[in-house]
Amino acid sequence: MPRECITIQAGQCGNQVGCKFWESALREHAAAAGNQGAFFDDALSSFFRNVDTRYKPPREIQPGGGNTPIMCLKARAVLVDMEEGVVNQLLKGQLSDLFDKKQYITDNSGSGNNWAQGHEFYGPKYTESILEKIRHEAESCESLQSFFMLHSLGGGTGSGVGTYILELLDDIYPKVYRFCASVFPSAEDDHVVTSPYNSLLSTAKLAEHAHCVLPVENQALIDIIRKRESLDARAEAGQRLPSSITSRGIQGKPFDQMNGITANLLLHLTSSMRFEGPLNVDLNEITTNLVPYPRLHFLVSSMAPLSTSGRLVQRPQAINQIFTEVFSRDNQHIKASPSNYTYLACAFLMRGNFCTISDLNQNISRIQQRLHMVHWNTEGFKIGLCNQPPLDSPLSLLCLANNTCIGSRFASMKESFSKLYKRKVYVHHYTQYMDAGVFEDSCCQVDDLIAEYAALEVLRPPDTVHRFRSVLADII
Ligand code: GTP
Ligand code: MG
Repeated sequence: MPRECITIQAGQCGNQVGCKFWESALREHAAAAGNQGAFFDDALSSFFRNVDTRYKPPREIQPGGGNTPIMCLKARAVLVDMEEGVVNQLLKGQLSDLFDKKQYITDNSGSGNNWAQGHEFYGPKYTESILEKIRHEAESCESLQSFFMLHSLGGGTGSGVGTYILELLDDIYPKVYRFCASVFPSAEDDHVVTSPYNSLLSTAKLAEHAHCVLPVENQALIDIIRKRESLDARAEAGQRLPSSITSRGIQGKPFDQMNGITANLLLHLTSSMRFEGPLNVDLNEITTNLVPYPRLHFLVSSMAPLSTSGRLVQRPQAINQIFTEVFSRDNQHIKASPSNYTYLACAFLMRGNFCTISDLNQNISRIQQRLHMVHWNTEGFKIGLCNQPPLDSPLSLLCLANNTCIGSRFASMKESFSKLYKRKVYVHHYTQYMDAGVFEDSCCQVDDLIAEYAALEVLRPPDTVHRFRSVLADII
């Protein structure tokens, strides 16, 4: 029985990440089919539907490499942006035939980096057509399992319309899982002056209406690219760092590469839904095992290896090595320090065909002592094993950690918010669309979230509790 997933991509970031995701998904299925050619099976039907118009993807991303009958694929997706640019580009590009007119909604002006404009104006304005498009996708599913929201929190559309849609889904499809890949702005790189407002207002909604959120931070992605390039250069006999990277950072954001990392994360997470494996882990198992309290569903993700240049040839060393690497801060998709905080649960999902379940269990025993697990879930490790490797490596490990460190990220988010809000900077742009009370309510919701994470820290050694408390001084 297929388990389908509908992707909703909202705003510039959501649609750009989506574009990379669909391209990589097609490549991955093409590689899995190999020379034997692909046919429309459960694996493809998770993300695609097969329709009766001929679709000829470019040869290199066509399942079966072009030797097989052409499949007529459409993405199970709804594209939303209140600006036309990015969606229009997507519809003109090489993936254009993957979407039809029933699948997208655009407007002209954008939400002006204003969550309230997205959530209170465009959301209600387009409710009917958003629902109609989602219904159209849902009706083509046999067993719809989840919605995936792709969006950023820093702008107006992805954050405002994105969270508005999440509430609609909660209302109308309460039993279907709602996963979000949410790009959090980072202090270092964000130029959207209102992003602290947008992030906090969206976080309050994510806590309430998502089942599971994978926060992704742009600075972390930039650092991963930098690290990967330096590993590749080192592997090639001491070459210098590529010129795109300087010690001051990357000149302009390499969104294409950054979105490639996010796309890989989503493909890895859903690999068990799509391909065979000795130990399949479904999305419902992720939420069951990793989310002990409904609102504490923000998972720190990390992947290894970052680079495969000249490595990963011998097991078990290669497997041990990537288990170690996945705990490095360099490999995380969000800047945080899980090792200093408490793990509520942790999942290790491996892709590749030269790893066994016993390799996974041995590695868990090896690292278990180093992790501080919450006292009521000391064995809270979930493992998954999918035989189909990713495109660029013979094996790859995704670690998903439900860890209280994310509470300190929310505390800094709240701090940035308060700095602006106490001077009422830009507030009038928001109160044009919403009651000022929404700011206060969202603050209380985020405070509660921070306090819930903090409450789980109290059994930690005193120095850590102190550190946590100092960040949260005004709350606990
Ligand atoms: P409006 O333009 O206000 O209608 O909302 P929007 O949702 O289109 O805004 P956008 O997605 O551009 O949000 C801005 C935030 O997203 C900033 O933090 C950007 O750095 C980030 N961002 C924009 N595009 C991308 C992308 O392709 N990848 C990543 N990782 N971040 C992006
Ligand atoms: Mg935009």
